[in-house]
Amino acid sequence: MSRLVVVSNRVAQPREARAGGLASAMQAALEQHGGLWFGWSGRVVDGEAAAPRIERVDRIDYALVDLSHADHDQYYLGFANRTLWPLLHFRPSLLDYHRGDFAGYLRVNAMFARQLAPLLRDDDVVWIHDYHLIPLGAELRALGIGARIGFFLHVPVPPPGLLAVLPHHEQLFPKLAAYDLVGVQTWRDRDALLAYFRDELHAATGADGDVVLPDGRRCDVAAFPIGIDAAKVADQARKAANSPATARLVRSLEGRKLVIGVDRLDYSKGLPQRFEAFGGFLARHAAWRSRVSFLQIAPPSREQVQEYRDLRSRLERLAGATNGRYAEPDWVPIRYVNRSFTQGTLAGFYRVADIGLVTPLRDGMNLVAKEYVAAQPPDDPGVLVLSNFAGAADELAEAIIINPLDPEDIVESLERALSMPLAERRERWAAMFERVRRDDIAAWRRAFLDRLAR
Ligand code: UDP
Ligand code: G6P
Repeated sequence: MSRLVVVSNRVAQPREARAGGLASAMQAALEQHGGLWFGWSGRVVDGEAAAPRIERVDRIDYALVDLSHADHDQYYLGFANRTLWPLLHFRPSLLDYHRGDFAGYLRVNAMFARQLAPLLRDDDVVWIHDYHLIPLGAELRALGIGARIGFFLHVPVPPPGLLAVLPHHEQLFPKLAAYDLVGVQTWRDRDALLAYFRDELHAATGADGDVVLPDGRRCDVAAFPIGIDAAKVADQARKAANSPATARLVRSLEGRKLVIGVDRLDYSKGLPQRFEAFGGFLARHAAWRSRVSFLQIAPPSREQVQEYRDLRSRLERLAGATNGRYAEPDWVPIRYVNRSFTQGTLAGFYRVADIGLVTPLRDGMNLVAKEYVAAQPPDDPGVLVLSNFAGAADELAEAIIINPLDPEDIVESLERALSMPLAERRERWAAMFERVRRDDIAAWRRAFLDRLAR
């Protein structure tokens, strides 16, 4: 069996609670399969990047490189998170493009390729992840790497006209053709990417997702909806049901219902809409006041980007206003927590929550939705309220599907979820759990790697 080499900007560091779907998912995939994981160490240093630090933990070899301050500013904060992230999440008005950032992005991709190439063996399978590293395949090819190289994009793909808003997009996206296989989350993302290749780059595309650019370069585009390690989450949730952290949470509720949200503090997650809807719910359904608490776990993310700081202030105002308005001496409606928790702890929280509230404006997949389902007790499962604009909505159709831009829709769904009879809850949950368990992270990894090997 060839060695699997995973490359991503963010690497799940051993023994660290770190929010983010890519890192969670690849940790689960690599724990089962073993291999090398190459990426950013999370550290920013003075001067130029040194050779990667290599460390083995269980079945995974980590090779981690530091970034210089300029790399971090231009590549990570700049082009990846001020330009590509808003663009790919359908928010061109938030896009902040600078040629220097694009140059830094290309420079770091070239640096990653130089650092990675000496670690590669001929029969490795290389799997590169997410929008930070679109040019990496082309850089590796330029260094003579002949291995199979696949790419997976964890975030959504907007329609062609929107992708073409990006200055110099025609210098970036054709680099995808350096990969043998390009995977995206949903069939919608696949169709959007193929349409972009056709409409904007004048490529020929086939029904199987094969793309031929006018200069003859070709690649293969297919959808692979990412999953979770459902068995592990279910097991963690069962074990955590009696853990001190879960017990404390349950005790603090004093019999009230619990609504839970778990998201990085990101403008793609629809958090202001969610907070406003919860306030609207208490306004409209006064009988529920003092009888339900909303726990929002929101670890800060990318705090050096202004939009993220603005969002944080906005949420503080919203939570404060709602709490000030409806709280009682012995009850606070919104418990707003700006820190991260380990997945084991989260599993216990999901299990005791009556409602999982997942309302992103756009999300590639949203693993929290799947984790919430996997963590439910089969005899008395909670209800998932899920945005139609999360990739997960395709597979979790038995959730209460909402449009997060319509606050009334969220308000009504909360009421409906809180009063849903047990039989209906069980029926909806069983259908979703079956799929989350079957299409798990191992199935996703196999599906991608099998097709890459073809
Ligand atoms: N997560 C975590 N600790 C936290 C908050 C989130 O481990 O305090 C994990 C969560 O369990 C999930 C991931 O971070 O696996 C978030 O993935 P998702 O796809 O929902 O969103 P993303 O952050 O990738 O946009
Ligand atoms: C999303 C992206 C990942 C990223 C994660 C956390 O899941 O798709 O690529 O790692 O958010 O963001 P961060 O900037 O902290 O890596």
